[in-house]
Amino acid sequence: MLEKLCNLDNKTAIITGASSGLGVQFAKALTKAGARVALVARREEKLKKVKEMLTQMGGKIEYYTADVTISDQVEKCIHSIQKDFGQIDILVNNAGFATLEPTEEHNLDSWHSPTTKVVCFPFSSSDAFCVRCTLGNSWSGPTGRD
Ligand SMILES: NC(=O)c1ccc[n+]([C@@H]2O[C@H](COP(=O)([O-])OP(=O)(O)OC[C@H]3O[C@@H](n4cnc5c(N)ncnc54)[C@H](OP(=O)(O)O)[C@@H]3O)[C@@H](O)[C@H]2O)c1
Repeated sequence: MLEKLCNLDNKTAIITGASSGLGVQFAKALTKAGARVALVARREEKLKKVKEMLTQMGGKIEYYTADVTISDQVEKCIHSIQKDFGQIDILVNNAGFATLEPTEEHNLDSWHSPTTKVVCFPFSSSDAFCVRCTLGNSWSGPTGRD
């Protein structure tokens, strides 16, 4: 019953931040549910190992190196994923980091450091990813190019 409910056969999932931590756990769960998984992060060696591990579980897995705060890299990555998998069905927008200092110790400088980009990229990259997830290959980009 649960297996039927969670059946993701023939679905394609993108997981950002898939080279370590929670991203790897999401990737395992989606692979077990039958989804094809596109792993996205910056560290290629780590991604390669995650791909090997999931492939051994029987998954159809590819990895893509991209910094999700850099829109050109996100675009290139989406393009490659669509080329390899076609329609994208699921986005796990997980890439990021947590700062450990207490909130009252945060100042504007630290906010304008890489944190800002990481806080913002769920919006920017989700936007690009989600448009593609919804419209699939028919989307020709905001300026009409593809
Ligand atoms: N663990 C927790 O208790 C917890 C609690 C609340 C929220 N979260 C959030 O959950 C997410 C995952 O946390 P985690 O504990 O699994 O952290 P983690 O082990 O440090 O993993 C972070 C992942 O994000 C990737 N990443 C970071 N910046 C990136 C960038 N600019 N472009 C592409 N990939 C990037 C890292 O890969 P590369 O370095 O290879 O790029 C890595 O795969 C984070 O967004 C975190 O803020 C975690």
